[in-house]
Amino acid sequence: MVAALDQNLLRQIDRNKLPRHIAIIMDGNGRWAKQRGFPRIFGHRSGVTAIREIVSACGELGVRVLTLFAFSTENWLRPPSEVRALMRLLERYLQRELPALQQNNVRLHAIGHVDQLPSSARRALRRAIAATADNAGLILILALNYGGRQEILDAVQRCLAKGAKAIDEQALSRSLDTAGLPDPDLLIRTSGEMRFSNFLLWQIAYTELYVTDTLWPDFRRVDLYRAILGYQRRERRFGGI
Ligand code: IPE
Ligand code: IPE
Ligand code: MG
Repeated sequence: MVAALDQNLLRQIDRNKLPRHIAIIMDGNGRWAKQRGFPRIFGHRSGVTAIREIVSACGELGVRVLTLFAFSTENWLRPPSEVRALMRLLERYLQRELPALQQNNVRLHAIGHVDQLPSSARRALRRAIAATADNAGLILILALNYGGRQEILDAVQRCLAKGAKAIDEQALSRSLDTAGLPDPDLLIRTSGEMRFSNFLLWQIAYTELYVTDTLWPDFRRVDLYRAILGYQRRERRFGGI
């Protein structure tokens, strides 16, 4: 039943008008767990299932870049036990998913201040990035200890360090963590929140926004297809007419 709906929506997607870059604010893990009377970490664990499915769906469709907001510079404000659990989950995800990433030809990349992550998570990340460096399929970017304002400030600092007297848009874009990648065409936020929460502030200037009430652990292929179909119905004007 669900599979048939998936197929039906998939057939409607115009392969010539795919978003090249999809960015996702994976939100609602805590609420998902709370609704079931479980601790918040249970929601984060269930969110990994959604990540697995969306990564393979994007790869199969031929999306070039998928950026997932996994941990923000503000998420350190959470109770230490939740932060620790999230870091352990990241480490385990990277170890367990590596074979699947390889099989799907996914190239892993990270943005944000990853140097401030616990050393074991950093090691797992470094290993997965190195192991997938030659893969030519989907570019999967994990935003970890990432903040949009911090990224812009870092970019300005890099320009200044190179001796720049004036900074234009190209110079700044080239100094961002996302240098060389297309800006997101589509930004998806789950769990109904109408805000950006400091995600990719520079890059989303003309990104199409899609908000769904679905909580991240429930997000599946069919929800991705709906978001892409919604995107394909939009008229992007970029300030023109
Ligand atoms: C998103 O889910 C995951 C992270 C921010 C790491 P939340 O943990 O924010 O879930 P809610 O928003 O509290 O439901
Ligand atoms: C944004 O979600 C960060 C991630 C998804 C990693 P939050 O749950 O932290 O955002 P706010 O606090 O609701 O704005
Ligand atoms: Mg949240």
